[in-house]
Amino acid sequence: MRRFARVTLLFLGCGVCSLLYGVRQLALSLEQEAGGARQRQARDSAAPDGGRQAGSAGRGEEGAGRCKNLSVSFWNSYWMLPSDVCGVNCFWEAAFRYSYMKTQPSETMHLAVVACGERLEETITMLRSAIIFSIKPLQFHIFAEDQLHESFKDILGDFPYEGKVNYTLYPITFPSEGAKEWKKLFKPCASQRLFLPLILKDVDSLLYVDTDILFLRPVDDIWSFLRKFNSTQIAAMAPEHEEPRIGWYNRFARHPYYGATGINSGVMLMNMTRIRRKYFKNDMTTVRLRWGELLMPLLKKYKLNITWGDQDLLNIMFFHNPESLYIFPCQWNYRPDHCIYGSNCKEAEEEGIFILHGNRGVYHDDKQPTFRAVYEAIKNYSFGDDLVRSLLQPLELELQKTVHTYCGRVYEVFMKQLKKSVRDLSVRRSKGS
Ligand SMILES: *[C@@H]1O[C@H](CO)[C@@H](O)[C@H](O)[C@H]1NC(C)=O
Ligand SMILES: *[C@@H]1O[C@H](CO)[C@@H](O)[C@H](O)[C@H]1NC(C)=O
Ligand SMILES: *[C@@H]1O[C@H](CO)[C@@H](O)[C@H](O)[C@H]1NC(C)=O
Ligand SMILES: *[C@@H]1O[C@H](CO)[C@@H](O)[C@H](O)[C@H]1NC(C)=O
Ligand SMILES: *[C@@H]1O[C@H](CO)[C@@H](O)[C@H](O)[C@H]1NC(C)=O
Ligand SMILES: *[C@@H]1O[C@H](CO)[C@@H](O)[C@H](O)[C@H]1NC(C)=O
Repeated sequence: MRRFARVTLLFLGCGVCSLLYGVRQLALSLEQEAGGARQRQARDSAAPDGGRQAGSAGRGEEGAGRCKNLSVSFWNSYWMLPSDVCGVNCFWEAAFRYSYMKTQPSETMHLAVVACGERLEETITMLRSAIIFSIKPLQFHIFAEDQLHESFKDILGDFPYEGKVNYTLYPITFPSEGAKEWKKLFKPCASQRLFLPLILKDVDSLLYVDTDILFLRPVDDIWSFLRKFNSTQIAAMAPEHEEPRIGWYNRFARHPYYGATGINSGVMLMNMTRIRRKYFKNDMTTVRLRWGELLMPLLKKYKLNITWGDQDLLNIMFFHNPESLYIFPCQWNYRPDHCIYGSNCKEAEEEGIFILHGNRGVYHDDKQPTFRAVYEAIKNYSFGDDLVRSLLQPLELELQKTVHTYCGRVYEVFMKQLKKSVRDLSVRRSKGS
C-alpha cells in the first residue's frame, strides 16, 4: 500500500512538473509570437529550415545562431530552462538526438552536372564549392564527353573524400530517336539534363546544376527544399527574372512559359521518383503523357520557336502543370541579371547570395569582375587551408576593386552568406562533427 502511494505521488509530481513546463512554454511562445512572427515568415520564405532543423539536433550547426549561449549542466531541470536555450546536456535533447540518428541515417545528396567542351575547370570548381561547405554525403553524377573522362578521373582522384564524396562518370547519351536533334539544341549537350530522370532510374532525388554554378552555402540547404514540396510538386527552380521590364520570356518568347517571367533551369532540384510517375498535361494531345513520352513531341512542335533549348521546353511543361513546381527565391540562383542594371534580387540584398550562377561566361571574361573574383577565389583555394585567410580575405580585396560596376556596388551581397558559411563550418568543426 505504501508503495502504491509513493508511485501515485511520483506520477502526480511528474504531472505537475509537466504542467508547469507546458504553461511556461506557452507563455514564452506567446510572448515571442508577436515580435517573432514577421521575422520568421521572412526567413522561412528564403531559407528552408525544415530539414536543417532536424539535422541541427544531431549536429548543432545552427545552434550558435538560434539559441542563447548558456552553459547548461545535467542537473538543470529541463522545465526551469527558457525555451530558447540549447540544452546540450539535457535528457530530453539527448533522447531526441538519439532517436533522430536512429531513424534518419545520413541521407546521400545526389548532384548532377553535364560537362562538354571547355567546361572541365569550371565543373571542377563547382564541385569543389559543393565539397567545401556540405555536411551530408554527396554523390556526384558527372555526364561528360568521352575525351574529358580521363581528366575528371585524375582531378577527382585527388579530392579529399573523407568518406563523404563519391562520383560516377557517364558518357553523354540521348535516345536513339532524335539523338541528332537533341544534340543540336541550344548548346551541344545541355539537353542531356532532360533525360536524367530516365537515365538515373535508381536515384530518388537529384540536384541538377549548370557547370557555372558556385555553392556559397552547404548543398544540404537547397536539398532540404525537397521536404517542403507539397503533394503535387515534383521540381524546384528560381524565376528567370525578378524585374519584368528586363525579362526575356515576357518580352520575346514565342511559346508558353511559366509564371510572369519564366523559370531558369541552371539550378534544378528534382524529385525524380515523382517525375517518373507523373502524367503531364500538355497542348499536344488530350491524354496526359509521362515525362519520357512528352519530350520528343514537345521538341517537334516547338523547335522552330525556342531560343534557350531545353530550358524553354521546361517552361512549356510547367506552364501546363504549374501545380508541380516549387519556386525558390533568386538568391538560390543569382545571375548577372540580378545586378548588372542595378540590384533587383531583394532576398540576396537581405541575406546574401546562396548559389552563384555566372552564366554567359562571366567567370572567364572581364565584363563582370565581381562574378569572376568569386570564381577565382574558390579556384585558388586549396582544401585544408584556412578559409578566412585563404578564401575570404583575398576575395574581399578583389571585390573592393570592382565597385565601379553595378554588381561591385553591392559586393557585400556576394560576401555575406560566404562569411556565414565559413563561420558555421568552423563552429561545426570545433564541435567535432
Ligand atoms: C558560447 O560560449 C562559449 C563559452 O563561454 C564560448 O567559448 C563560445 O565562443 C560562445 N559561442 C558563441 C557563438 O558565442
Ligand atoms: C559510389 O558510387 C558507386 C556507383 O557509382 C556505388 O556503387 C558505390 O556503392 C558508391 N560508394 C559509396 C561509398 O557510396
Ligand atoms: C511559333 O511562333 C509563331 C510566330 O510568333 C506563332 O505564330 C506560332 O503559333 C508559334 N508556334 C507554336 C507551336 O506556338
Ligand atoms: C520523392 O517522392 C517520393 C514519392 O512521393 C517520396 O517517397 C520520396 O520520399 C520523395 N523524396 C524526397 C527526398 O523527399
Ligand atoms: C502545391 O503548391 C503549388 C504551388 O504553390 C500549388 O499550385 C498547388 O496547388 C499545391 N498543391 C497542393 C496539393 O496543395
Ligand atoms: C587568384 O590567383 C590569381 C593568380 O595567382 C591572382 O591573380 C588572383 O588575384 C587570385 N584571386 C583571388 C580572388 O584570390
